[in-house]
Amino acid sequence: MEKQKLSFKVNNDEYEVYIHPKTLLVEVIRDHLGFTGTKRGCETVSCGACTVNVNGASVKSCSVLAIQCEGMEVTTVEGLEKNGKLSPIQKSFLDHGSYQCGFCTPGMLMSASAFIAEAKDPTKDQIKESIEGNVCRCTGYNSIVRAIEAVTQGKYKEE
Ligand code: FES
Ligand code: FES
Repeated sequence: MEKQKLSFKVNNDEYEVYIHPKTLLVEVIRDHLGFTGTKRGCETVSCGACTVNVNGASVKSCSVLAIQCEGMEVTTVEGLEKNGKLSPIQKSFLDHGSYQCGFCTPGMLMSASAFIAEAKDPTKDQIKESIEGNVCRCTGYNSIVRAIEAVTQGKYKEE
């Protein structure tokens, strides 16, 4: 099958890659561009480890053909920090000990950051719903929810 050109932005930089049309977004992010913070877990749209943000919405990158992202803006976990400073949700995860093995953490952070960008004074249930597509095998959910809640309560600011 002939390769096609994909032009898109990842973490604010422009990229052009030549890929087979059936290449998944997660493959391009990890294998072509080297953003290995995005994890491959189940590859069946169940675990959320591969979650990235596409035009601001959280998307499971194992469920999307990369070519569908033509002209779009993708953010991976590597794109959350600004000028070497961690984002509010990253700092809050650190302070709340919201990870154990850390495999799910990049996807959790991406789902949480998309939610926080839109959320206005959310309830705890809404926070839980925001990460319902992300599985943590270590069951660290309570500390993850507390970390997201702290950011939505304005306890962490962009530096
Ligand atoms: S690897 Fe994409 S949802 Fe599990
Ligand atoms: S911290 Fe281990 S899977 Fe979530």
